[in-house]
Amino acid sequence: MTAIRGFVGASRRPGVLGVHSMDNFNMLVPDLEKAKEFYSAFGIDVREEGNALGLYTFGNTHRWGSLSEGPGKKLNFLSFGVFGDEVADLRRHVEGQGVKLLDAPPGFESDGFWFRDHDGNIIEMRAAEKTSPNEKSDTQNISVPANVAGAPLRSKAPVVRPRRLAHILIFTRDVDKAVAFYCSVLGLRLSDRSGDGIAFLHGIHGSDHHLIAFAKSDAPGLHHCSWDVGSINEVGLGAMQMADKGFSKGWGLGRHVLGSNFFHYVRDPWGSYSEYSSDIDYVSADHDWNSGDHAAEDAFYIWGPKPPDDFTFNYEGKTPK
Ligand SMILES: [Fe+2]
Repeated sequence: MTAIRGFVGASRRPGVLGVHSMDNFNMLVPDLEKAKEFYSAFGIDVREEGNALGLYTFGNTHRWGSLSEGPGKKLNFLSFGVFGDEVADLRRHVEGQGVKLLDAPPGFESDGFWFRDHDGNIIEMRAAEKTSPNEKSDTQNISVPANVAGAPLRSKAPVVRPRRLAHILIFTRDVDKAVAFYCSVLGLRLSDRSGDGIAFLHGIHGSDHHLIAFAKSDAPGLHHCSWDVGSINEVGLGAMQMADKGFSKGWGLGRHVLGSNFFHYVRDPWGSYSEYSSDIDYVSADHDWNSGDHAAEDAFYIWGPKPPDDFTFNYEGKTPK
């Protein structure tokens, strides 16, 4: 058979059940116009779809997220993608764990199935194309030879457009319970953690170091959605692109330890963040990641500015400062 150049088929670990992707998320926000402005500035293809906004990346048909109007910022649900031939088995598995299935939230019909996690967050599992990467995402940190200028003029800087949703980080009342639930019920695996403060989980069928992560708080909530870009340069350019449009609050440029990605977080109008992320670690379908439990001061970031004091404050249900 002739291989299609550049095409990589969906990776899969045989004989084990588990979600393969963070397919999409839905968040309620009080002002869709403001949300459109923020995500458009971030480089997302924001489409008006009925009463909601769809979040797409340019050149990709997948809808990574959607925003609906609500009284305040609130994570409404997370939808995980599974292989079509695993749906029935996973449904039996979820129910076998004592988890009660729910109807889809009003206005969100699907052929998947729905339930609540340990914190009451609404979760969907649905048959979907594997959108988590099947190999480590390429990163291009381009240099130029002697006698050539490497940087364009500021006025000619390219617009940063993320390539895909990378991961979601949510708050939880109990990180241990989150790890237990998402590993036993959804089939994810622990990549790394820092005590009971934060934990990162990957998919067994090949995914980034984390497709979801949990940080301890006194209530559930969305901390950030993370978007993959192709270089450290794009992380920096993205931060500048947002600052130029008035979205200068955030944290970066830096490099995480757990996951290793270069980051810049931009704060949205409601106190959660969108992250430009590049060169995150990757766990192949045939590899058992050597997970560790590390002290926070040794594992949060290897370099970068000091984070804002309220970086890990849970603004869900509260008015941001
Ligand atoms: Fe992140």
